[in-house]
Amino acid sequence: MEYSKDIFIKEQEYLLQTYKRIPIKISHGKGVYIFTEDGKKYLDFFSGIAVNALGYGNKKVIRAIEEQIKKYIHLSNYYVNVPQIELAEKLVKYSGLSKVFFTNSGTEATEASLKLIRKFFGPKKKIITFSNAFHGRTYGSLSLGGKKKYKEHFSPLLPNIIQLEYNNVEQLDKYIDSETAAVYLEFIQGEGGVRVASERFISKIKSLKKKYNFILVADEVQSGIGRTGKSFAYNHYNITPDLVIVAKSIGGGLPLGALITNNRYFNVFESGDHGSTFGGNPVACVAGLAVIDEVFENSLVNEVAKLGDYFLKELKMISGENSDKIIDIRGLGFMLGVEFNQPCSAIVEEFRGKGILVNCTNDNVLRILPPLISTQENIEHFLNEFRLILNKKIT
Ligand SMILES: Cc1ncc(COP(=O)(O)O)c(C=O)c1O
Repeated sequence: MEYSKDIFIKEQEYLLQTYKRIPIKISHGKGVYIFTEDGKKYLDFFSGIAVNALGYGNKKVIRAIEEQIKKYIHLSNYYVNVPQIELAEKLVKYSGLSKVFFTNSGTEATEASLKLIRKFFGPKKKIITFSNAFHGRTYGSLSLGGKKKYKEHFSPLLPNIIQLEYNNVEQLDKYIDSETAAVYLEFIQGEGGVRVASERFISKIKSLKKKYNFILVADEVQSGIGRTGKSFAYNHYNITPDLVIVAKSIGGGLPLGALITNNRYFNVFESGDHGSTFGGNPVACVAGLAVIDEVFENSLVNEVAKLGDYFLKELKMISGENSDKIIDIRGLGFMLGVEFNQPCSAIVEEFRGKGILVNCTNDNVLRILPPLISTQENIEHFLNEFRLILNKKIT
């Protein structure tokens, strides 16, 4: 499809202005690259916010979709559909949990988990979440979130939710007790500034969980399905959550999310307690199966672990040489962050000028989310350009 000249003006005319659009006119994607109408090529190290794990135009994903759409595109959830069952089986296998409920997005999977927790514990028990957390934009998910700017115009939000400081072990001791129904945790925060949970923090949560028996929910929407170099971010720690929420890359670019439960909570929902017209769409599920096949069964996840370590090490070197600008480097696998001592939107623009797409989150954290298929050469290219950008005086 051709863009008309005034596409950005038309966008403003017809769409609610909820998104700040990047001013490039994209024609198509291939592998780790995005191409524009005027023939420019961009290395996409943001992957559609961690969705495009296999990049653009992956043959297995396309073939799976083509085959499925000839059979049926949609079936109501009154009927079983094979792709749903096959994908659920894989999610159970790689998460180590028991059963799956499919949704269309991360926020819907979070909503499903909230309903499950409320049904199990009743309304009075409190839910613990953390500063800078991000769990989605619908009311329940928004209530769990830790960012004021997303919540301030939308109260009243859900009651009985207590926000603690991420990685603050003392606060866990103080606020988690027998009244705690659940703890929502991103083992590595994405939107919140690529923050990694400390070992001490997780082992305290583990010991408190043993004592008070709350439900531990891992939000793996961004960090799951191999992004951190392991199946899920919680696999970096000695702990297994009760509920796991996934979305983003699990649909191979199509809308799909899932709530995975362990065997203690899988029968909390009974027939009619929850549902979705589109949740677990068969086309999205076959695309997801192609992603699982590549990431787990063809061991792409091991490449991510190896290259991610290298990437982090090189970023730390760059940081050492630029300690007047960079405060911290952190992350796991292909979920990496560079914290600057000033807002990083100018750096993102510099990168764009050099044909590389990245993101700035939490004002001053450069968030790097390469497609999982990225190569050493792609990483070297990014690092070289980063060095050149930092050598220029950035205002
Ligand atoms: C950790 C996390 N949880 C939940 C969500 C919400 O997912 P969705 O946008 O699919 O509703 C996101 C989206 O960025 C996320 O990063």
